[in-house]
Amino acid sequence: MSDGMIASKIDTIRSQFPALQRKGHAGQPCVYFDAPGGTQVPAAVIEAMKHYLSAQNSNTHGQFITSEESDQVIEHARELGAAFIGAPGASDIHFGANMSTITFHLSRALLNMLSAGDEIIITRLDHDANISPWLALQKFGIQIKWVDFNPENCTLKMDDFGKLLSDRTRLVAVGYASNAVGTINDAKSIVKQAKAAGALTFIDAVHFAPHGLIDVKAIDCDFLVCSAYKFFGPHIGMAYVRKSVADILQVDRVRPQNPLPPEKFETGTLNHEGIAGFNAAMNYLASLSQTDSPTTDVRQAIVKSMAAISAYEQQLSRKLITGLQDITGVKIYGIADLKALAHRTPTVSITVEGHTPQGIAHELGKRDIFVWDGDFYAVEVIQRLGLEKSGGLVRIGLTHYSTTSEIDRLLAGLREIAR
Ligand SMILES: Cc1ncc(COP(=O)(O)O)c(C=O)c1O
Repeated sequence: MSDGMIASKIDTIRSQFPALQRKGHAGQPCVYFDAPGGTQVPAAVIEAMKHYLSAQNSNTHGQFITSEESDQVIEHARELGAAFIGAPGASDIHFGANMSTITFHLSRALLNMLSAGDEIIITRLDHDANISPWLALQKFGIQIKWVDFNPENCTLKMDDFGKLLSDRTRLVAVGYASNAVGTINDAKSIVKQAKAAGALTFIDAVHFAPHGLIDVKAIDCDFLVCSAYKFFGPHIGMAYVRKSVADILQVDRVRPQNPLPPEKFETGTLNHEGIAGFNAAMNYLASLSQTDSPTTDVRQAIVKSMAAISAYEQQLSRKLITGLQDITGVKIYGIADLKALAHRTPTVSITVEGHTPQGIAHELGKRDIFVWDGDFYAVEVIQRLGLEKSGGLVRIGLTHYSTTSEIDRLLAGLREIAR
């Protein structure tokens, strides 16, 4: 049902993003295949930020209208954030500068619940923002255990994960999807196994969030973090903390700060205009599945929109992967099996024989096609694949505003460069 929904209104969707109208060096429309590094924003997001700064700009909890409205903007953002990820309540949602800052903050807080010799399991498939905050606890005697991945298709070695769990495992921190190679991990099964071993679970959903439906209640994790600039919003981070954990977690905070969740996790004044933009980004996502009779249930709309997005993106992945497989010298890293597209995001990374990743990105850049090269802070992935000395990967990162004709332009460019 949702299969053709995005394709049928792709022009209307694209017209909402001012950035998609710009032209680049070569005078052609820019092709934004840089989405895993940050997505573009709809005009409504820009407008909401402008409106906040023009009419509502204030600090919180004051006795005057702009402050009252600022409180409302933030409270509404918690409700929309909860709807976005299927969290039980608005107070389970807190905001911060970005995912990395939030994760360091939470790792320091979790240390208060740990003792020397306790174990944390992390994976080699993760972005370093879900690695370094846990490695930082080693100096306090916390032991780190690594889950490896299969280099042939970049999927986690789930059997190894089961073997690493022990009665000392206190936390399992895992990415929902890899920002380097697009693998979607089975977060639900990982959490289930971790819980059975008595461990807490921390999910980095930064890369997954723009591509599929997050359902925190179904995953049953204790923490889930993401960043709005990856899902059509401004540069802010968002976190879910399970209430029973949030209540007991001791966190560094300035003394006058509200000691109760969610505010207790929020160090200092938030990025209010960013939060106003976040609300508009949520409304944008909900609107994708709206018909003439829009639902008032935001979660229901988000569920439909994300189903439509992932169906559309699987079609894009199919076209991109098939096209790449046809170009001599191109090697795809990650899941390339067309029957397994539901297990990957439309983030497809490659190398091209005889060319450095930077060289390829540069050549594509000259053609106004934006792709990233390097390690994308997924340093463990690049090392495990043995690519650190050769410049890492070229990452082609599609999203729901990408089109099949843009893929054709990329493939034509690659064919010329690889020749
Ligand atoms: C999978 C993943 N996790 C974490 C991060 C870090 O997010 P932030 O920039 O919000 O700290 C990124 C950023 O690229 C990412 O892709």
